[in-house]
Amino acid sequence: MTDLHALLRIRHHIGSVIERATGDSTVICDQVRPIVRDAVIDQDFVIACVEHTALAFERQDFSNPPIVDDEEREFSIRLIPWPKSVSNHPHRHDHWTVTAVMAGRLRFEIYEERSGNLSLQRAILAQRGEAGAIVPPCIHRVVNENDGPSLSLHVFSGKRALQAHAERRPYQRGQTVWYGAPDSQKPTVLDLVYGLLSTLSQIEPAMAIPPLRRLCRRGPANCRMAAIKALALLDLGAAKDEAMNLANVLDDQNALALRNVVSGL
Ligand SMILES: [Fe+2]
Repeated sequence: MTDLHALLRIRHHIGSVIERATGDSTVICDQVRPIVRDAVIDQDFVIACVEHTALAFERQDFSNPPIVDDEEREFSIRLIPWPKSVSNHPHRHDHWTVTAVMAGRLRFEIYEERSGNLSLQRAILAQRGEAGAIVPPCIHRVVNENDGPSLSLHVFSGKRALQAHAERRPYQRGQTVWYGAPDSQKPTVLDLVYGLLSTLSQIEPAMAIPPLRRLCRRGPANCRMAAIKALALLDLGAAKDEAMNLANVLDDQNALALRNVVSGL
C-alpha cells in the first residue's frame, strides 16, 4: 500500500501559506521554512518521497518529477541529489525558493556582483534538518560537503518556465540566471537513488525496510542493485530474495553472476 499522505499534507500547508501571504515573499519564506525543516526529518515524509520515486519508476519515468507540483498556487517541491564533491555554478532565481537538507551536508555560498564580477560574501554549512530561504536577487551556489551523497529538498515558486531550457529543465519554475554555464553535471537516476538511500538510513530500520524493498523492485538494474545492498545491511534474508527477483530480469551472464554472489552470502 502506497502512502503519499505526507506529500498531500505539505502541499496543503505550503499552499495555505501562499494564499494567506498574498505575494509577500519574506512572509512566505518565514513560514515555509519551518514546514520543510520539520518535513525532511519526518519518517512518514521520507517514506512518502521514496514511494513517490518508486511510483515514477513503475511508470518508467526516470526524470525525477516534483514530489509536489501545484499549478494553481505556482509552486513545486523537488528533491535534488548531490553526489560526492559535486557543486553547481552561481545563479539567481527570479522567485523565492526554500531549501532544506534531507541527507548529508551541503554548503551554500552567497555571492555579490560588482561591476560584472562575483565575490564570495558568505558561506552557510547546512546539515540534515536545516533549511534556508533564498529571496531574489540573491546569487548563490551549492556544494556537496559530505563524504558521500547528499539530498536536498527545494520549494520553487513562480510560473512554470516553458520557454527557456524547457527540454533540459522541464520542471523549472520562474527564470534562473546562470553565471557561467548551467549545471555542468546533471544528476543521474542512480544519484537520486543514492540520495534516497542515504535519507532512508536516517530513519528507524523497521520503517525503512518496506520502502527499501519497493526500490529493490523498480527502476534500472543498477538502482535496484544499490537498494539491495542497502537492504542487506538491515535484513540479509530479504536482500537475498530481492537479489533473486532482480536476477530473473537480467541477461543470462549477469543473472548467473548475481545468483553466485547471493548463494555465497
Ligand atoms: Fe538555486
